[in-house]
Amino acid sequence: MPESFPLSIRLSVTDYEPDGITIEDTVELCRLLEAHGVDVLHCSGGHHAGMEWEVSPWYQVRAPHRWGWEKIKEAVTIPVIASGSLVTPEVADEIIASGSADFVSLGRAMLADPDWARKARDGRVLEITPCIRCNDGCLHRGLNRGRSAGCSVNPHVTEEGRFAVLVSDTRKRVAVVGGGPAGLRSAAVLHDRGHDVTVFEPGEIGGLLAHAQASTVKQDLAGLVRHLVHEVERRGIVIAAEYADVEKLTTQGFDTVVAATGAPLRRADFPISTASPVLYAGDVRASRPLMGTVVVVGGGLQGCEVALRVAGMDSAKVTILEAGPRLLAGDEVFTDQERLPLFLGAAGVDVRTGVRVTAVDDSGVHATGDGVDEFIPADTVVLALGRVEADTHFVTSLRDAGLEVKVVGSAAAPGRVFDAIHSAFFTARLV
Ligand SMILES: Cc1cc2nc3c(=O)[nH]c(=O)nc-3n(C[C@H](O)[C@H](O)[C@H](O)COP(=O)(O)OP(=O)(O)OC[C@H]3O[C@@H](n4cnc5c(N)ncnc54)[C@H](O)[C@@H]3O)c2cc1C
Ligand SMILES: Cc1cc2nc3c(=O)[nH]c(=O)nc-3n(C[C@H](O)[C@H](O)[C@H](O)COP(=O)(O)O)c2cc1C
Ligand code: SF4
Repeated sequence: MPESFPLSIRLSVTDYEPDGITIEDTVELCRLLEAHGVDVLHCSGGHHAGMEWEVSPWYQVRAPHRWGWEKIKEAVTIPVIASGSLVTPEVADEIIASGSADFVSLGRAMLADPDWARKARDGRVLEITPCIRCNDGCLHRGLNRGRSAGCSVNPHVTEEGRFAVLVSDTRKRVAVVGGGPAGLRSAAVLHDRGHDVTVFEPGEIGGLLAHAQASTVKQDLAGLVRHLVHEVERRGIVIAAEYADVEKLTTQGFDTVVAATGAPLRRADFPISTASPVLYAGDVRASRPLMGTVVVVGGGLQGCEVALRVAGMDSAKVTILEAGPRLLAGDEVFTDQERLPLFLGAAGVDVRTGVRVTAVDDSGVHATGDGVDEFIPADTVVLALGRVEADTHFVTSLRDAGLEVKVVGSAAAPGRVFDAIHSAFFTARLV
């Protein structure tokens, strides 16, 4: 046993309040701490009323407190630990290699994958289940509800023994229909159960998360898709780029079908002329930047996130129209609800609430609010109206044909990544 343990103090580089604790205050404090014998300084940021800094979410840059710990490191001789959104080994490596800090600390990344450090050391980077900085499983549906911290992308975190994936006594031929997060996660678990798995996906792999590819705003979700695809590919699971209908599934000798087919779009309750320049939120791609004036209809999570993505594209001027009195009014994650609107403002997005769209034609949007009708010209109109429950026809037909059928992800109930991954994991581990 050492005579004394090193003493590490954790502190925020600043609380990010306009009249709050400045970096100069913190540097001075750190000098005093060193002079009084503290061995290590562990630097985070924000405070409990500024959670978008304390647990920096997906719309924040990675390593947001870097500027602060670097000032502290310049002022002291004891080691400095960096923390906050160091979610990938590349980010962590660069911080150490550049001399920005002496150590890195991982919070949520270790909930997402407790084997993070081992996999990073072994160069198995794509095997790391990445934290998507959603704050959903750990905080919104975890600590904030008086539960222990869970994780959207790691459904059995801290319960690995209770919810282990065991090899099945019976080997089945399983068709996973849909290559979104629910389908991909199911496929990996089913393979680990010893089943013979085929994934059917005629569209973009990643399902509704395909929009994240190449987007700076959605870099964490893009990393999740890369990981889910890698986990399917490294197991040798076949991905058939085909639409799977009832006839195909019933004639190809499958015992079980996992329906991960997603949820249908909510239809607009206003007329849209056939020549309208309309896109759906999930179809906006970084590789095809929008230009000119863009009107986003709907101020839920998808409307807000697509507005942020488009605002970062070449010369797009973005307006969100939301019929209700505020953005993100549903059961959204607190860090999204509280601060995403501020980030939209900072990105130059014009947010208009209490404005109901009445029609879309080929040159823009007709809307009404406070009894006033108006026309808003638009080069592109992005509909972000959410999803509705899937009908049961596909599943019922397969069951009538004698197949075992499990329904996962948004096909069971529209939701977020948390719901897709959790339902996939907990269903597939029992097939
Ligand atoms: C723009 C946008 C942004 C979003 N942002 C977030 C976010 O930031 N955080 C979050 O938690 N969630 C977000 N979501 C929601 C998230 O994408 C969904 O919760 C998730 O994708 C649902 O996963 P899933 O696998 O159940 O379904 P989906 O992702 O919808 O995948 C279903 C797949 O099934 C395929 N399919 C359907 N029928 C067949 C068939 N017969 N044969 C073969 N394949 C078939 C489809 O082609 C599709 O690829 C967002 C959604 C959108 C649209
Ligand atoms: C579920 C949860 C519990 C946390 N509890 C504490 C805590 O007790 N003390 C603390 O200083 N930070 C706490 N944090 C903040 C983390 O230590 C860390 O600073 C923050 O999550 C940002 O780093 P990360 O991006 O590596 O997660 C907590 C974070 C989460 C998600
Ligand atoms: S719930 Fe989301 S933010 Fe929290 S650890 Fe898991 S992936 Fe990261």
